[in-house]
Order: sequence, then structure tokens, then C-alpha cells
Amino acid sequence: MAIVPNGPVLALRGISKRFGAVQALTDIHLEVHAGEVVALVGDNGAGKSTLVKSIAGVGPADEGVIEWQGRPVQVTRPHDAQELGIATVYQDLALCDNIDVVGNLFLGREILRAGVLDEVEMERRSRELLQTLSIRIPSVRIPIASLSGGQRQTVAIARSMLGEPKLVILDEPTAALGVEQTAQVLDLVERLRDRGLAVILISHNMADVKAVADRVAVLRLGRNNGTFDVKTTSQEEIISAITGATDNAVTRRKARSGEVAK
Ligand SMILES: Nc1ncnc2c1ncn2[C@@H]1O[C@H](COP(=O)(O)OP(=O)(O)OP(=O)(O)O)[C@@H](O)[C@H]1O
Ligand SMILES: [Mg+2]
Repeated sequence: MAIVPNGPVLALRGISKRFGAVQALTDIHLEVHAGEVVALVGDNGAGKSTLVKSIAGVGPADEGVIEWQGRPVQVTRPHDAQELGIATVYQDLALCDNIDVVGNLFLGREILRAGVLDEVEMERRSRELLQTLSIRIPSVRIPIASLSGGQRQTVAIARSMLGEPKLVILDEPTAALGVEQTAQVLDLVERLRDRGLAVILISHNMADVKAVADRVAVLRLGRNNGTFDVKTTSQEEIISAITGATDNAVTRRKARSGEVAK
């Protein structure tokens, strides 16, 4: 297995996906490196969720190659993605409101001891996990329902860490959050990056993108419409790529140069 030093953890090469008459994705390329946050942005219907589903094994692509640490892999089921080390936190979070934080963290991966739930061990590991990620919540034994939106989001992200992934995909993690809660979640994203994880962050919020992403990949009508270095790109440029103002400008320029050509 050829692991390219400093190569991308994940590389998408020519991903296409069609739903009946709708060509949702056309020839998408994307690379994500360890210790990097890549924001995936684009208007409603641009294909962001469809792309994430293809990486997560929820809705495999029709065409194209997914490379993981430099080698092509098949990701046809969610299990394949998990095995590789790809964790996805969906917008609806899939947390259970009426059970506590420990129960939610270990939902579906409960620790058993002599055939019964080992609550003590799960609680210990929960505290340890939250502490490692500097997540502060009132108690690990309160129901999810009594946490704020931001706290819930951090719990959902913490849960995705239990499988020790190398890549975490966050679908609109701050969409429903206030200022303070958003800051909490963005801080956590930074900590994930600092721990060497690769992060794909789907967001409609340019302030979030500017605050936390290293690069931003723009999708427009199911196609790549530019990848930008966040530090050196203005918000306006990114928005232009999202809305298509850029390609209009290019088209206009081409049209103009055509007019002046002898
Ligand atoms: N299961 C499906 N069946 C048919 N068409 C679909 C399906 N899922 C997505 N699409 C279509 O594919 C295109 C891309 O949708 P997708 O959900 O990936 O967009 P998005 O970028 O995530 O948008 P949003 O910002 O609104 O979440 C849209 O035209 C959508 O209608
Ligand atoms: Mg979506």
C-alpha cells in the first residue's frame, strides 16, 4: 500500500452521481489533508450532501474514484467508511433527547460487562472523551433534551470521535446555533484539526468558513467551481463563486475579448 507522505488523506477523482434525470454531481475533484479543515460550500442543491453521502457510503457515486491515503477504495456502505476512519455528523444529529449524554455517546456501541451494560466504564470514558476535547457540559448524566443546541452539537461531534476517525465530515454544524454556541463548535473544530484530523465542514455561513477553514471548495450546480485558500481570498470572491457571478464574469470577459479580436 503506497502511502504518499504529506499526500491527502482523502482524494475524490471525477465523482459523478445522477438521480434519474437530475445530474447531481459531475466530475467532482476534492482533496483533504490531515490537520486541515476544508469548507464545502455551495447554494441549495449544489450537491454538497450528495457528495458527503458518496464519501460516507450512504449513497455511492456512479462514477469516479475515492482514494484513501493514496490508494483507491470502495465505499459502498456506511460500514466501509467507518472501517477506513471516516466519521460523519449529520445535521439532524441523530441524538436521542430522552437519554443522557453517556447513553448517547455509546448508542450502538455500548460497553458490556458480563452481558450487562457497564455504566461505570461508559461514564468514565465519556468524561475522558469530553475532557480530551475540552467540551464542557453540566453533567454527563443529564438528558440530551436539557442541553443547549451548541452543547448537543459538541456531544454529537464527540460521539463521532469514539471510532478514532482520521476524517470527520460535519454537515452544517452551526446552522441552528447562536453566537456563543457557534463559537463553541468552531473551537471544537479547531481542536480536531490540532489533533491532526482532516475535517470537511459544510456551511452556508461565510463567517464560520473564514474563522475556521484553511481551504474552501465551492460546488455550483453539481460541479467544482473553484478551491480557494481562505487566508488570501475575500468573502466576496467566495460568494461570487457560489452564486456564479464569477463564471458570468469569465463568460463576459471571454465574450468581450471575442468582440475585440481581429
Ligand atoms: N434522493 C434524491 N433523489 C433525487 N434527487 C436528489 C436526491 N438527493 C438529491 N437530489 C438532487 O440532487 C441535487 C443536489 O442535492 P443536494 O442535497 O446534494 O444539495 P445540497 O448542496 O446539499 O443542498 P442544501 O444546501 O440545500 O442542503 C439537487 O438537485 C437535489 O434535488
Ligand atoms: Mg445538503
